[in-house]
Amino acid sequence: MRRSLVDPDPVSHLSDMLPPALPLVDSFGRLHNNLRISVTDRCNIRCVYCMPETVRFLPRAEVLRFEEIARVVRAAVPLGIDKLRLTGGEPLVRRDLPRLITLLAEIDGIRDIALTTNGILLAPMARQLWDAGLRRINVSLDTLDPTRFEQLTRRSGFEQVIEGIHAAREAGFHPVKINAVAIKGVTEDDVVPLARFGRDHGCEIRFIEYMPLDAGDAWERGKVLFAEEILDRLAAEFGPLEPAPDQDPRAPALDYVYTDGHPARVGLIASVSRPFCGSCNRLRLTADGKLRNCLFALDETDLRALLRGGADDEALRAAIRASVAAKWEGHEINTARFIKPARLMHAIGG
Ligand code: 5AD
Ligand code: SF4
Repeated sequence: MRRSLVDPDPVSHLSDMLPPALPLVDSFGRLHNNLRISVTDRCNIRCVYCMPETVRFLPRAEVLRFEEIARVVRAAVPLGIDKLRLTGGEPLVRRDLPRLITLLAEIDGIRDIALTTNGILLAPMARQLWDAGLRRINVSLDTLDPTRFEQLTRRSGFEQVIEGIHAAREAGFHPVKINAVAIKGVTEDDVVPLARFGRDHGCEIRFIEYMPLDAGDAWERGKVLFAEEILDRLAAEFGPLEPAPDQDPRAPALDYVYTDGHPARVGLIASVSRPFCGSCNRLRLTADGKLRNCLFALDETDLRALLRGGADDEALRAAIRASVAAKWEGHEINTARFIKPARLMHAIGG
């Protein structure tokens, strides 16, 4: 379109002429387009690998309001953020979550919104989430054995999770992805039943190597059920699997397909045995408004202080850029240098 000589809107004309904001590239050349947003640190279950039985949750006033979250996202879009994932704690315990999804879906430049949930509250909400604009969903479920479910989560609710998975499928989510933390001596016998469930119900099951993010010193390398071992167990039952032909090289999961013609996929998130830090594109916003450039980061950037202190979008962007610029090469779980972050998983968001 040709501009008229007398521009009716000189301000937008000026911003048209400014160079676009530089993308979020860190000092290792990694481009960041993915923001994971924890909407609450509260949870309705107590997975042993994630939080202790009794926790002090954040006072509500410290948790970002939906408008504050949307403001951060709007400020981050010109920096190249276009993918969001909502996490917790358990995101569905946050009242009115579909309203946040609607707010985020309306932001120009956001092309993908996903949710990670434990599934307990999912069945009655699945359709509402879909209608609000959510299109991708991951349900955390480590076992199909109701007794082991109660041991791992220290709560009941297994049936509700299963109902939630089916309700999500019926609402249109396809595939529903199932995240299963793989712990040696605990979940070996769940590998095959979970894979079978995925094949039978149109779900992609993703096994996640147990990471040192829990309370106390429970984690040790010997407790990680490694991806290789999971693949061996699957191969013994279903025949060999092979790497999927259309892998997303930036996604943490290594995707596998069956060779018996079944269309299901299996994901392996080998965080410990094959760290994927080299292709990391993720930033994290905690429920109390701290930006973390790594799941294992020891430093955080206080965006809430900026938001509530009247900072403009440029100041927010400068803080986001500084956080990305300071990102380290990767976690060092496999070295003696590893330092566990002070925050527990439920307060980071996964
Ligand atoms: N190691 C691996 N995965 C974990 N999760 C929570 N804690 C850990 C851990 N210590 C997973 C949850 C959920 C996602 C948010 O992170 O099971 O799927
Ligand atoms: Fe809750 Fe998720 Fe932590 Fe389990 S892993 S206790 S579901 S926040």
